Amino acid sequence: MAEPVRVKNIGLRGVTVADTKISFIDGEQGILIYRGYRVEELAEKSSFLETACLLLNGSLPGAAELDAFSRQVAVARQVPEFLFESLKRWPGEAHPMDVLQASLPLLGMADPDLFAETRDANVRMATRLIARIPVLMAAWHRIRNGREPLPPDDTLSHAGNFLWQLSGVRPDEEMARDLDICLILHADHTFNASTFACREVVSTRAHMYAGVAAGAGALSGSLHGGANAEVMKMLQELESEKDIKGWVKGQLDKGQKIMGMGHAVYKTTDPRATFLKEMTYRLGKKLGQERWHQLSTDIEDAAVREFEKRGKATIKPNVDFYSAPVYHMMGIPGDLFTPVFAMSRIAGWCAHIIEEKFAEAQEKPMLYRPSTEYVGNYCGLMGCSYGPIEKRG
Ligand SMILES: CC(C)(COP(=O)(O)OP(=O)(O)OC[C@H]1O[C@@H](n2cnc3c(N)ncnc32)[C@H](O)[C@@H]1OP(=O)(O)O)[C@@H](O)C(=O)NCCC(=O)NCCS
Repeated sequence: MAEPVRVKNIGLRGVTVADTKISFIDGEQGILIYRGYRVEELAEKSSFLETACLLLNGSLPGAAELDAFSRQVAVARQVPEFLFESLKRWPGEAHPMDVLQASLPLLGMADPDLFAETRDANVRMATRLIARIPVLMAAWHRIRNGREPLPPDDTLSHAGNFLWQLSGVRPDEEMARDLDICLILHADHTFNASTFACREVVSTRAHMYAGVAAGAGALSGSLHGGANAEVMKMLQELESEKDIKGWVKGQLDKGQKIMGMGHAVYKTTDPRATFLKEMTYRLGKKLGQERWHQLSTDIEDAAVREFEKRGKATIKPNVDFYSAPVYHMMGIPGDLFTPVFAMSRIAGWCAHIIEEKFAEAQEKPMLYRPSTEYVGNYCGLMGCSYGPIEKRG
C-alpha cells in the first residue's frame, strides 16, 4: 500500500493546490517566469504597466493596447474625494499597511463594476486598483504629515508619479526607472501567502476588492512583505556595529531570524535579489551612500557562512534583503516599503483573482476547503456534558 503523504502543519510546502498560467518558479535554479518570460528580461526591457498588462491578459500588449491601458490608469488615478476626507479622520500613527487594507473596501464601494462578474469588469477593477494604490499611499503619507495630497502628474511613469505624489519632488528619470524595475520584480510570485489569500477569498465568489483586502493583510506580516521594513530596521541598527559576524552568530544562537534571508521556495539566491543588489550598489555610488551596499553585503556574507556552518546552506538573500536599502536611498519612509510591494503585487493578485474566478487554468471554479485533523477535547459523538456555570471547576 502506498504511504499516505503527510501534508499537515507544514504550511502547505510542496503541496500543489492549483494550476496556474501566470507565473513559474524553479526554486533550485533561481528562475522566475511571468507568462513565459524571464523576470530578468522583463526588468531590463519592460515597464511596470506593460508587465501588469502581460499578467492580466496573458500576452505582451501591442503599442495601441499598452497606450490604452496607460490612459485608463491615468484616468483612474483620480481617487474618489470621500476617501481622502475619510483618511483625514484616521489616526495619524496608523500603519500604512492597515490604512491600505482598510481603504481597499472603500475603493470597492466606489467602483461601478464591483459586482459585475465578467472578465472585462474584473480587468477594469484591476486597472483602477493598480492606478489607485500608489495614489492612496502617497496621499496617506502627506495627510499624516499635515499636508494635502498632490494631484497626479501623468507625464511621469507609474513609478515616477508615485515618487512625485509622495514627496512633491519630480524624480530624475533614472530613479523613476529604478523604482519601475522594482515594481516589475515584485509583480507576481506564484502561490505566495498573499496571492493564495486573494485566491482563497474569491473562490467563495466574493468580489475582487474582498480578495485584495485579504491579500494586503497577508502581505503585511514580517515573514512575507513586511520583511523589507524589518531589513531596514536591521541595517539601521547595525550601521555602527563593528562585529557583524558576532551579531549574526548571536542572532542565530538566540533563535532569531535574519530578516530578508531564506525562502519557502528558493533554495538558491532569489533572482530578484541579484538584480536589487546591483541596484543598491549603483544607487549608493550615485547618491554617495555606498555604506548600505557595504553593510548589506557584510551581513549577507556573514549570514551565508554561519548558515552553512549550521547545515542550512540553502538560506540566501531574498527579494526583501536588497529592496530595503534601495527604497531607503530613494527617500521612501520605512513603513511605506511594504505598501510599495503591494503597489506592485496588486498586478499579480488581480491576475490570479481573474484566473481563479474564471477558471482560466482549470476546468471549473472550485471553492477552497481543505480539511483538518481534530486534536481537541473529545467526549465521543454525543458531545461532552454541558454543566451549569456554577458547577464548573
Ligand atoms: C521566509 C521563510 C519563512 C521561509 O522559511 P522556510 O525555509 O520555508 O522554512 P522555515 O521557516 O521552517 O526554515 C527552515 C529552517 O531555517 C531557519 N531559517 C530560515 N530562514 C531563516 C532566517 N532568515 N534566519 C534564521 N533562520 C532561518 C528556520 O529557523 C528553520 O530552522 P529549524 O529547522 O532549525 O527550525 C524564512 O526563511 C524566514 O522567516 N525568513 C525571514 C523573513 C523573510 O525574509 N521573509 C520574506 C520572504 S520573501
